[in-house]
Amino acid sequence: TSVYVLNGPNLNLLGTRRPEVYGSTTLADVEELCRQEAGKLGLELEFLQSNHEGQLVDWVQEAGARVAAGDCLGAVFNPGAYTHTSIALHDAIEGASLPVVEVHISNVHAREEFRRHSYVSPVARGVVVGFGVYGYVLALRGLHHSAGLG
Ligand code: DQA
Repeated sequence: TSVYVLNGPNLNLLGTRRPEVYGSTTLADVEELCRQEAGKLGLELEFLQSNHEGQLVDWVQEAGARVAAGDCLGAVFNPGAYTHTSIALHDAIEGASLPVVEVHISNVHAREEFRRHSYVSPVARGVVVGFGVYGYVLALRGLHHSAGLG
């Protein structure tokens, strides 16, 4: 069984982009962290990043099809700024019936007002916010748990 970890725009710059907000860990480090946790949970990992909304929609649909085929638990998803703008991602998650745990590295509620609204949260299983990159680990565990696997 697999799990997707999807990352949206600008997360490829993790480590150098606003380290006072997002920390100095790189996306490659986050991938390694996720690989270790997925390994412990007995899951295969698809770790992906794109700056393009349509690509993220395609991956949500792909993951949803794999869930329907019984071959995937769902996705941990940090949609970056598309969180706050994308009805397309909302519709994709809902349409694909994809179990999603939404992750934000920073505490989006303690920042600008425009970061407080999410189009993804209403169609997410759960949301992890403000724990830095460790949030990805928490989200993987949460997804595993909510799939009834312990
Ligand atoms: C983010 C928060 C978003 O508001 C922002 O646009 C990002 C990163 C986070 O992980 O804290 O790109 O999703």
